Amino acid sequence: MIKKAQLEELILQSLEHERGGVLVYEAAVKCAIQKDLKKEWEEYLGQTRSHVQILESVCREMKIDPEAESPGKDIVRHLGSALVQAMQLAKKNGKPDAAQLVACECVVLAETKDHADWELLAKCAEKLNGKEKEVLTAACEKVEEEEDEHLYHTKGWCRELWLDSLGLEAVLPPPEEKKNVKTAIGAARAKQASERGR
Ligand SMILES: [Fe+2]
Ligand SMILES: [Fe+2]
Repeated sequence: MIKKAQLEELILQSLEHERGGVLVYEAAVKCAIQKDLKKEWEEYLGQTRSHVQILESVCREMKIDPEAESPGKDIVRHLGSALVQAMQLAKKNGKPDAAQLVACECVVLAETKDHADWELLAKCAEKLNGKEKEVLTAACEKVEEEEDEHLYHTKGWCRELWLDSLGLEAVLPPPEEKKNVKTAIGAARAKQASERGR
C-alpha cells in the first residue's frame, strides 16, 4: 500500500521544484550565449511553466492544497533560489563563458531532481487506483519524455562546453541533440559517440 501522506509530500515537492524551475530557466536563459542552447532553454522554460500547471491540476483532482506547506517544500525552495543566486553571481562577475557554464551546471542539478520526481510519480501512478491513477498517469505521460530531454540534453551541453573551455575538442551542439536522446542508454551512447569522434 502506498503511503498517501508521503505521496502528497512528493507531489507538493514536485510542484515547488517546477515553480523554482521556471526561475532557474529564466536566469539560465540570461546566461546563455550559444544561440542553440538559448533557444533550447527557452523551449524548456515554456515546458516547465506547463509542468507547473499540470501539477496544479493534479493537486486539484486529488484534493491536495497546492499551497499547503511541508518541511520538504522549504528545502526545495531554498535549493532552487541558491541555484538562481549562483547564476546571478556568475553573471555579475562578468565572464560570459564562465556564467554560461555555471548555468549549465545549475540546470543539470535542477533537472536531476525534476527527472527523479517524475520517475517516482510514474511509479506511484502504477500503484494507485481509480481516478487518482488516471489523473497521475495522464500527467506523467505528458511530462516524462520532456524531462528526459531536459536532463540528457543539458548534460550534453555541460560536458561539451566544459571541454571547449579546456581547449579540448568539443562537439557543439552536443551529440545528444542530433540523436534526440530521450533515455539513459541513449545518453550513454551519445557520450560514447562524442568520445569516438574526438
Ligand atoms: Fe519539469
Ligand atoms: Fe525539467
